[in-house]
Amino acid sequence: MTDTSSVAKSQLTVISPDPICASARLPSLEEGITPNSNYFIRNHFGVPNIDVSTWSISIWGEVDNPVMVRYEELLEMPSREVKSLLECAGNSRSTMQPPAEGVAWDHGAVGTAVWKGVPVGTVLEKASMRKIAKNVLFEGADYGRERNAPGALAPRELSYAMSLPMEKVLNPDTLLVYEMNGETLPPEHGYPVRLLVPGWYGMASVKWLANIRVLENPFRGFHENDYYVYVAEGAGDSVGQRVSIIKVKSLITSPSRGELVPLGTQRIRGVAWSGESAIAKVEVSTNDGRDWQEADIEGADSPYGWQHWEYDWEAGHPGHYLLRARAVDEQGNVQPSQAQWNFRGYSVNSIHVVPVTVHEV
Ligand code: MTE
Repeated sequence: MTDTSSVAKSQLTVISPDPICASARLPSLEEGITPNSNYFIRNHFGVPNIDVSTWSISIWGEVDNPVMVRYEELLEMPSREVKSLLECAGNSRSTMQPPAEGVAWDHGAVGTAVWKGVPVGTVLEKASMRKIAKNVLFEGADYGRERNAPGALAPRELSYAMSLPMEKVLNPDTLLVYEMNGETLPPEHGYPVRLLVPGWYGMASVKWLANIRVLENPFRGFHENDYYVYVAEGAGDSVGQRVSIIKVKSLITSPSRGELVPLGTQRIRGVAWSGESAIAKVEVSTNDGRDWQEADIEGADSPYGWQHWEYDWEAGHPGHYLLRARAVDEQGNVQPSQAQWNFRGYSVNSIHVVPVTVHEV
């Protein structure tokens, strides 16, 4: 069952109680590393109770040597640390126009952590993959019935599962994680072991790993094939393109929506990221998007992290203003004024707009 006690003690805002979905507050994104207690949570089902003394991951499928890997064995294998952000594919969904179906996330389904674990490729070597192997399925120990899923697609209880193409699986930064920010992985984030797929939206980073199945073809399961897909209006089931790499995005973390700010110099702060590319620049507009000024941006210290930025705005006249920020990544991708609409509201990276009032002191 879901343990909500740790969430109640955290600074997270519960967006949906059962299964738990909890969001970080915007100003807290100004921290370089998000503390575990303030890291967003997105669960499809309850948190499974796992006894680590009997837990193991089974690796099977298109392999010559199926194996079970126990927790202690994993801890003894050569490990690696990766600083990476996770962003839920549904982050910012509540701002999508026209409205989209799904958990009404604000902007806080994103966080950056240092994850420690073993590259998936190292673990797979134990099982000797066959030549035809091209995909790997990762299955969590959590299961249940999916709400809002047509019976034909998800007729029974199902477990959370996603496959990945072999190239991404064998990237040395794709990890079987057992530590988050120097602590044992917390239960709500996937204890004892989760997958980390840096650069991809969070749905790929399967928590509470139980099974790894090596496949020839991509898995056609519900979450991968029907749920985390971009669906156009009027489209049928099982036709959308799969959600994968995180799109370029920036958010204004301060001032906050509706804030009263005094005349004079105002520091506007924010954070920007893009799945598989560093951020090249962030621009800020304070006059309805007519003029854009470049913000100061910190360097990228990880290919998968976020970069903070700031801009000093001379607020010279009292009145009501809209602050906007847009990011451009090193591949030239520009944050759009309006993200492309899709039925489940994925990848909402529309330019963030924050209304503020400037007043005389
Ligand atoms: N893995 C399992 N087994 N079950 C889940 O519900 N949710 C996914 C992913 N992995 C999920 C899962 C989604 S949609 C996201 S955004 C991330 O986990 C969230 O990770 P977090 O809760 O640690 O922030």
